[in-house]
Amino acid sequence: MQNFSIQMKREGKKIGLVPTMGYLHDGHLSLVKIAKEKSDVAVVSIFVNPTQFGPSEDFNKYPRDEARDLELLKSLNVDAVFMPDSNEIYQFNYQTYVDVEEITKKQEGEFRPTHFKGVTTIVSILFNCVQPDVAVFGQKDAQQAAVINRMVNDLKFPVKIIIAPIIREPDGLAMSSRNVYLSIQERKDALILYRALKYGEKLIEGKEMNPQVIIDNMRIMISGIESARLDYIRIVNAYYFTEPDFIEGGNEYYILIACKIGKTRLIDNILVQV
Ligand code: PAJ
Repeated sequence: MQNFSIQMKREGKKIGLVPTMGYLHDGHLSLVKIAKEKSDVAVVSIFVNPTQFGPSEDFNKYPRDEARDLELLKSLNVDAVFMPDSNEIYQFNYQTYVDVEEITKKQEGEFRPTHFKGVTTIVSILFNCVQPDVAVFGQKDAQQAAVINRMVNDLKFPVKIIIAPIIREPDGLAMSSRNVYLSIQERKDALILYRALKYGEKLIEGKEMNPQVIIDNMRIMISGIESARLDYIRIVNAYYFTEPDFIEGGNEYYILIACKIGKTRLIDNILVQV
């Protein structure tokens, strides 16, 4: 992979990377299209990264379909697909991790305490293998994107990060590889995440500036869905992921939601410009 990238750079070509864990959907493919626009050589990595899954999470049953992924990427004329083996990445005696300290502690970090350390470590490794000039991440995982931005700034990685909008199903459900876990009833129930987010957005547009009031109202809405068990709703500053006491004009906020529908944990968010 490094040799390929070095050769491309020698030819003066700009490399764009889209890191993924595979089982690709239109959300992933929208990032690939952006990478192609912003670079000369588009590289997609597919690697289900064991270090970002907690001990009781779904690493072993995470959906995989290599053949279909490669078909989809071929149809988009991707220049290279990087699909390393787990024991190539984390070789015998592996012991080096990248840890972003503050912005990883709250929200997702409270429920998945080792998750972001795994993400920043694998993304650093991927950046070193692929040596991209630009890398595209999705707003779907808004905190992940903010963590990567922090890491790239702090460690001076020579890569430009682009954050791409969330791609949704026609009924509003954010596309996710994990949506395949949902039963037919749960698939319907899962719409509550986006509905609650839109409701929260409407309350802010109606000048409700107290995050707690907004969150409580969203909570009540979600409690009407039997299969839904909420992990959290938070309103955060879109850059620092701090949780303000009051929403103030001239700022951007994410309303973040993490909710289990049956056994499937889903996350979603909406960006609100006040
Ligand atoms: P994965 O969940 O496969 O997602 C790969 C990229 O696709 C992420 O940047 C994610 O935010 C983006 N994405 C997922 N669903 C999306 C949607 N509906 N609309 C737009 N973009 C979407 O995120 C990871 O993998 C991993 O943590 C990774 C960064 C690859 C590190 O292992």
